[in-house]
Amino acid sequence: MVNHTLWLLGLLPFTLAANFQGGLTNTVPGSYLVEFPMDDSSSTADLDAYKHQFAQEMADRQIPFRFINNYTSVFHGCNIAVRGEYTSLISKLESVKVVAIDATMSSDAYTKIARRSLVEHPPLPQLAHYSTNYNKLMAKHNVTGKGVKIGIIDSGIDYNHPAFGSCYKTPGCRIQYGYDFVGDNYNGKNTPEPDDDPLDTCNGHGTHVAGIAAGNDGVFKGTAPEATLGIYRVLGCQGSTSTSVVMTALQKAYDDGMDVINVSISFPSGFTADIASFRTEAFAKQGVIVVASVGNDGIYSMWMAGSPAVGSGALAVGSSEPEYFWTQVVNITTSAGVHTYSRSAPQDHLHHFDFDNTPVMVAEDGGNYTACSPLTHSAEGFILVTIAGDCSYENKIQNAINAGAVGLIISIDTGNLFFSPTLAGNYSIPVVNGQNELYHDMKTWKNQGKRFTLSSDETFITRHNVKGPKVSPYSSWGPGTDLSAKPDLIAPGSNIYSALPLNMGLYGIISGTSMSSPYVAGIVALMREKFPQGNVTEFKSLLIHVANLLKETVTSSSGKSEQDMGSIVQQGGGTINVENIMDDFGLTIENSISIGDDTHASPENPNWRKFTATLKNNTPKTYKFSFIHSVGLTITSYLDNETYVSNINFENYPIPFRYQPIKGGTLLPYTTFTITGFMILDNVPMDRFYVVSGYYFFRIYDGDRLIPRQAPWMGLRGRFRDIPMLPRPDHHLAPSLINDDKEPVTDSPHIYDTGKGQFPKFRFSLMFNCELILIQVAQRTSDNAVQYHDIEYMYGTYLQRNYKMLRHPFYFFNWTATFKVNNTVNTYEPAPAGKYWFYLRLLKPTAKENETDAFTIWESPEFQLVPAA
Ligand SMILES: *[C@@H]1O[C@H](CO)[C@@H](O)[C@H](O)[C@H]1NC(C)=O
Ligand SMILES: *[C@@H]1O[C@H](CO)[C@@H](O)[C@H](O)[C@H]1NC(C)=O
Ligand SMILES: *[C@@H]1O[C@H](CO)[C@@H](O)[C@H](O)[C@H]1NC(C)=O
Ligand SMILES: *[C@@H]1O[C@H](CO)[C@@H](O)[C@H](O)[C@H]1NC(C)=O
Ligand SMILES: *[C@@H]1O[C@H](CO)[C@@H](O)[C@H](O)[C@H]1NC(C)=O
Ligand SMILES: *[C@@H]1O[C@H](CO)[C@@H](O)[C@H](O)[C@H]1NC(C)=O
Ligand SMILES: *[C@@H]1O[C@H](CO)[C@@H](O)[C@H](O)[C@H]1NC(C)=O
Ligand SMILES: *[C@@H]1O[C@H](CO)[C@@H](O)[C@H](O)[C@H]1NC(C)=O
Ligand SMILES: *[C@@H]1O[C@H](CO)[C@@H](O)[C@H](O)[C@H]1NC(C)=O
Ligand SMILES: *[C@@H]1O[C@H](CO)[C@@H](O)[C@H](O)[C@H]1NC(C)=O
Ligand SMILES: *[C@@H]1O[C@H](CO)[C@@H](O)[C@H](O)[C@H]1NC(C)=O
Repeated sequence: MVNHTLWLLGLLPFTLAANFQGGLTNTVPGSYLVEFPMDDSSSTADLDAYKHQFAQEMADRQIPFRFINNYTSVFHGCNIAVRGEYTSLISKLESVKVVAIDATMSSDAYTKIARRSLVEHPPLPQLAHYSTNYNKLMAKHNVTGKGVKIGIIDSGIDYNHPAFGSCYKTPGCRIQYGYDFVGDNYNGKNTPEPDDDPLDTCNGHGTHVAGIAAGNDGVFKGTAPEATLGIYRVLGCQGSTSTSVVMTALQKAYDDGMDVINVSISFPSGFTADIASFRTEAFAKQGVIVVASVGNDGIYSMWMAGSPAVGSGALAVGSSEPEYFWTQVVNITTSAGVHTYSRSAPQDHLHHFDFDNTPVMVAEDGGNYTACSPLTHSAEGFILVTIAGDCSYENKIQNAINAGAVGLIISIDTGNLFFSPTLAGNYSIPVVNGQNELYHDMKTWKNQGKRFTLSSDETFITRHNVKGPKVSPYSSWGPGTDLSAKPDLIAPGSNIYSALPLNMGLYGIISGTSMSSPYVAGIVALMREKFPQGNVTEFKSLLIHVANLLKETVTSSSGKSEQDMGSIVQQGGGTINVENIMDDFGLTIENSISIGDDTHASPENPNWRKFTATLKNNTPKTYKFSFIHSVGLTITSYLDNETYVSNINFENYPIPFRYQPIKGGTLLPYTTFTITGFMILDNVPMDRFYVVSGYYFFRIYDGDRLIPRQAPWMGLRGRFRDIPMLPRPDHHLAPSLINDDKEPVTDSPHIYDTGKGQFPKFRFSLMFNCELILIQVAQRTSDNAVQYHDIEYMYGTYLQRNYKMLRHPFYFFNWTATFKVNNTVNTYEPAPAGKYWFYLRLLKPTAKENETDAFTIWESPEFQLVPAA
């Protein structure tokens, strides 16, 4: 079902320009990953032979390098130290399938934890189990994950925690495997200091997620409370790591025999072929399921699913809002009584949000209520309430402190997510995020002339999510950059109560898709316990096909709001529902999940797409079934060929199905039934790169017992390849030549004088993820022909869309003012004085480098290069 094409044809130069500056792509300087062209049946002898051949080829070309590490299982290759400019040569060696930059990454800002806490929180039951029907599953099946090994690749663990038996590797201990690949001081770029001890007392993330998957102290229980744990620490105290370290950890987890591996990393590229997708399909073939979170970039609209979640073998998990959750609260007392609102924990834990009938007020700053400007009134002795947005938290806090406030609540509209603000400073007042309603209610009361007080302490209380189940707003949307259907499903990720290291309070709340994937990892462990012979495809398909579909509220043009089936690029198969995952095992659906783009039109009609859906009965029972379909919401991805839609925009176009006149039938033991037909896309316009989706429903009966199963599908209206890569030339985010201050130059031709340290440079913003970027400089020769020069760092790979992203709106390229003088030899010489321009090529989606019209091209204005004397 999943598109392997990019990987199989991945003979492109996989190098990343080392002097792209300021962009998202952090790299480990001089560290590269090489994959040999071996298949899964290759032997250790083949590996040695390739390593030998590789070393020989490198020596023949006089490329100095050093082996850093060797990968022998699942991924066949090595990690080498070599200078960046050699990578295009290395990519062409016979012994090399792929050479990739070693990328660094950091764990999400959403999940950073305080350094210490003054309060030790008690174990409480896991409320997410109510939303997922976990408790109903437990009533039917006696499963605990006993005997199943869950590998956790994260920040380590505090194994002194009672939820893990307060032991490490001793006989009978639940944690039987573990290794620290990095050490406390690792920041993703410096030399790791590995040792045997994955103790984490400085970050806490790994302890929290391990608790969700497999914690158990009698009261608090993770999803697989008796599973055996392998703890592989890849994040230092700062929460950073690199691809090479994660690969080493994956290999160790595999060699230790882990059944389920949960990867704590989300690299932002989102390409299946990217090395960061870690060959998850190879793990799947060996029966190992890699569960990975899809990322926390939901606010950036579609096409944001990260790696390795997009890997074809991975189970990509997004976040849903649980029905019940633990939270700390603020109570506001007015003359009308006490009103209770949810809040986050203070980020630094230096101060607790602990108040007793303290006066509280809404910030006034000239009508904006954002506290971005100095307040127009004193807040002496008051707790201040303001709203998120328009400026940094630091800015708001400083204004609150200046006005004399004793505490600050920043109200945010993110569903049930109350992530703790991560702040650089060490402020004198406690700061929390609070529910959006708090701010609105207070404004109303204020207009009524009321005064009120606030009480709050550190106690956790249960709250009911009155808005009903929803996809978390921060959960990243698919599809994958190769149009693969991602995420696969969603699971509770908001306000999740779980273990924290002892010095951080024992238990606490974190939110993010990082919390969703270990929940699923634990469930997969239970399935493995129950069905030792089951394969990864069966586990995956069951989880996806019995999930609960969520609806979206859509406001029509007439202003009426209605509930429609959500899109699979947001919720995958739906939110996890485990009640029936162990019943009717072997009854699965296999379907055309991605119906591709308009180039996949059926020969019968250009507006039709063919589909097949197969119901497989791998059980000894006979079932009866019927088939229907339901269309999900259609989403606009680009308004026209040149405008990216940054706010999700739903439409509900009807998409009729035309299929064989089969409404149902009987399914005998060990047989399959296939329905084929067409989806009719006539109603969906072609101009906005609409992503369409829906569900195939099978209603299956075992006698009178109904067994619902449904499978998602999705596709793109329009031609994928036409999705715009760059903003319009007249747009302020269009590529431009820049000066040393990274500002666009205005004169023409602009003069870059390398003698004065001015090197030619430009910036660009990508409107769509790009697999391959090529940069050359061009020059007009005396006979008026154009000559293109290869330059250092001319390749970039797997860059994520960054158009209008607050984190990193531009990629920067700085030319060393040298070029290759002779195409057979890798020597660069200073470019002579003269006029040049940059020639930037961006490979279009699905295009191959050698095809015509494969690239979106930008040619910079001519500039004048003045070399140093
Ligand atoms: C990796 O393999 C190379 C070549 O066989 C060898 O020289 C090197 O020591 C190995 N490195 C490690 C860390 O095992
Ligand atoms: C569950 O299984 C365990 C053995 O794995 C057994 O000791 C226990 O009694 C069982 N519990 C129930 C309720 O069947
Ligand atoms: C209020 O917000 C608007 C728009 O963001 C801004 O232009 C204005 O300066 C703000 N006013 C104050 C007093 O901060
Ligand atoms: C923060 O400031 C307080 C004093 O206001 C000081 O006691 C504390 O050590 C500081 N903490 C850090 C981490 O800098
Ligand atoms: C806040 O109100 C809740 C009831 O909604 C109560 O359980 C809790 O104790 C109160 N907390 C404080 C600090 O007043
Ligand atoms: C599981 O993976 C997610 C991201 O893929 C990560 O954030 C989380 O920490 C991991 N959980 C465990 C238990 O390793
Ligand atoms: C998984 O098991 C099913 C039988 O239920 C079989 O059809 C399928 O080929 C198996 N897949 C793999 C990858 O082994
Ligand atoms: C985008 O479409 C407009 C018409 O809607 C057309 O004028 C323009 O050339 C197109 N741009 C590209 C890059 O295809
Ligand atoms: C651009 O590259 C040149 C040559 O490598 C270097 O000297 C210069 O510092 C770089 N400029 C910037 C702004 O990075
Ligand atoms: C390029 O280098 C090769 C090997 O050094 C040499 O044989 C050839 O003549 C050179 N070509 C040019 C155009 O300089
Ligand atoms: C392009 O390259 C691929 C291999 O990367 C090859 O299979 C294909 O035939 C080539 N196409 C053309 C038109 O050369």
